[in-house]
Amino acid sequence: MEIQANEEEVVISEPPHLHLISAFLAMEPPDVLISFARECGGGLIGEKVQSFIWNHCISKTVENGGCQQGPYLKRVLKKLIGEIESDGVVVFDELYEHYAFIMTSLKDDSFPEGNSRVVKRISFLFPDECSELSSCPKSKKLEVSLQCSVNMLEGDTGCSIWPSCLFLSEFILSFPEIFFDKSCFEVGSGVGLVGICLAHVKASSVVLSDGDLSTLSNMRLNLESNLLSTRSDVPEHDKDSSTVQCIHLPWESATENELQNFAPDIVLGADVIYDPLYLPHLVQVLTGLLKRGTSYPNHGNDPCEGCQPDFRWIRSEVQNEGSKCDTTKGEVESCSAPCVEHEDHAFERGPVAYIASVIRNMETFNYFLELTKQANLIVNDITENSQPFNLLCYAKSYQRSSIRIFSISYM
Ligand SMILES: C[S@@+](CC[C@H](N)C(=O)[O-])C[C@H]1O[C@@H](n2cnc3c(N)ncnc32)[C@H](O)[C@@H]1O
Repeated sequence: MEIQANEEEVVISEPPHLHLISAFLAMEPPDVLISFARECGGGLIGEKVQSFIWNHCISKTVENGGCQQGPYLKRVLKKLIGEIESDGVVVFDELYEHYAFIMTSLKDDSFPEGNSRVVKRISFLFPDECSELSSCPKSKKLEVSLQCSVNMLEGDTGCSIWPSCLFLSEFILSFPEIFFDKSCFEVGSGVGLVGICLAHVKASSVVLSDGDLSTLSNMRLNLESNLLSTRSDVPEHDKDSSTVQCIHLPWESATENELQNFAPDIVLGADVIYDPLYLPHLVQVLTGLLKRGTSYPNHGNDPCEGCQPDFRWIRSEVQNEGSKCDTTKGEVESCSAPCVEHEDHAFERGPVAYIASVIRNMETFNYFLELTKQANLIVNDITENSQPFNLLCYAKSYQRSSIRIFSISYM
């Protein structure tokens, strides 16, 4: 049976079809696609759903020259055809033919000439009530194209998309007022997604950094393919939120002077707390970025021992908003507005860092805490009180519940 040109009448901007396309573009595992496909078809992957998958997912990838996605398409088609056949439904010829084509052109699941790069498209889906989170009020999503590696260790781990950077991106997009018009500096930026989100919410300046050179060149490529400039020769007064600076900054060789020159309002980091060897250097870098030579005005709010100055404002905002907003922000349906609102006075006390992390090894994390204590940094776990919206609800392989977010400030 062949796919008809007079296509299905489905609303592609609504779930579950929207989730199916988004999951395909983000290269979610085939099982995830199958479950959305079944949802679209009321349990079966019938004619309409097959036609939808062909028109909106597979043929578009092929048209856009997505030969890098070959091994992924092969796995998706194999699973899809198997599921349709096991349901006793007729499989469209196009699906068989394309699978046969990939089978003959791609001998195994490996990438041509050792190239393990793929392009994932991450769609942040804004719920209706939160359309103000997107810069365009009509747009319900922000789509970011990221070249990344399927080999998690490539580029000193910086060429993969790690879950904490997805979480930190959701955090930025959920609380844009924190970052708007602020100078931001990220350590260990990897593929550059956090920088793209910072530019989207119009941070006044964005500097991304990494210690690995191949990661840095991949990061630049990603920024440019998302229409951001990485030129460093732009005069300061001509820089706007579409310019993102990418710098080589190995933590072990960064000097205090060099770091203090950046003087950012906000420091960010995602999945950077994992290697005990580099933790002392990382903490030194954070201290150098957060410490200022001057003291900050104190408006009679001296923090008591154990209290975190920079984040009391977030806590009180969340509590104040309690009546109109369910604080379990992951449940976007019940939310009418972002819970955390920006207040300028929070920054009068000095810069703050937001570090998102999966704690894989408690000993390593405790070592990080010990080092921060010695460096006079105050670390506060703000995960419970400042949950971002779940903007990646289709990404079933992304386990956001395993991620913590910390605020760090200099005492
Ligand atoms: C696990 S990856 C996380 C990447 C990205 N933040 C994310 O969440 O997707 C760790 C990142 O830190 C960088 N990194 C590791 N050690 C570093 C060091 N000593 N100096 C600078 N960057 C380093 C790596 O190159 C990599 O980009």
